[in-house]
Amino acid sequence: MDGNGRWAELRGEPREAGHKAGSAAVRRIVRACRKLGVEALTLYAFSEQNWARPRGEVDALMGLLREFLMSERGEILDNDIRLVAIGDISRLPEVVREVLDPLRTASAGNMKMTLALALSYGAREEIAAAARELAKEAVAGKLDPEAIDGALLAARLPSQSVGEPDLILRTGGEQRLSNFLLYGAAYAELSFTERLWPDFTEDDLFAAIAAYQQRLRDAGPADRAQGDAARANGALDADRPWRARELAAQDGPRTGV
Ligand code: FPP
Repeated sequence: MDGNGRWAELRGEPREAGHKAGSAAVRRIVRACRKLGVEALTLYAFSEQNWARPRGEVDALMGLLREFLMSERGEILDNDIRLVAIGDISRLPEVVREVLDPLRTASAGNMKMTLALALSYGAREEIAAAARELAKEAVAGKLDPEAIDGALLAARLPSQSVGEPDLILRTGGEQRLSNFLLYGAAYAELSFTERLWPDFTEDDLFAAIAAYQQRLRDAGPADRAQGDAARANGALDADRPWRARELAAQDGPRTGV
C-alpha cells in the first residue's frame, strides 16, 4: 500500500493525511475483494521496519488501524470475513490490541474470506522466528534436524496459514517485495503499478486481476493447462478469476491476492 506519503505531499498536506486517505482505500478494496469472492487478502499495513518512522506518524497509523477495526467490525462479522493478524503483534500498543484481539476471536469461524493484516510484520523476521522454534526443538531432542524441510518450515510460518498468494500487488511505483511474504511469494505473480495507494480504485483491482488471468493464459504449457483445467471447472471466469491456480495447485492452497 505504497504512496500515502507522496499522495499527501502532492497536496501540501502532512503524511498522516495520506495515511487517512489510504485507510479509505483499504475499506474500498476490502469490500471489492469480498464482493468479487477473493478468498484471502493480505494487507501490508505496518512493517517491522515502519517502527523506525517518526513517533507522530507511527501514532497516527496506530490510530487509523484502531479506527478501521472499530468501524469495520460489524461489516467484517456480517460478511463472514475472518480477520487474522500476522507479525509481532506483541509490539502493538494496547489501543490497537484491545480492538484487534476480540475481533480476531469473534471472526475466527468465518469462512467466506480471510482478511490478514500484516502488522509489525517482516518476512525475514518471521522465517527467523520459525527457524528458532525448530532449532529449539532439535536441541531438546524433539525433532530430527534431518526431518526439517520446506513443508515443516512453512507449517511454522503464520503467513502460510492464510494460504500462498496467487498475486502480489504493489502500488506507488516500487518494484520490489520489501520483506513481504518472502516464503509464500515463491510462485506468486507480481503486479506493480505507479498508482499511489490512496488513488487505487476497484477498477485498478479488476485490471490487475484481469492481467493476472491473461498472464495465466499466456504462460507456458503447464500454466496454460492449469488455466484450461480451471476454465473447465468454471473457475476461470469474470467472477472468480483467482481460483484458477488454487484448483490446479499441486503444492498446497493458493487462494489470495
Ligand atoms: C506506505 O506508504 C504505507 C504505510 C507504511 C502504511 C499503510 C497504512 C494504511 C494504508 C492505513 C492504515 C491501515 C489499515 C489497515 C486501516 P508510505 O507512507 O511509505 O508512502 P510513500 O511511499 O509515498 O512514502
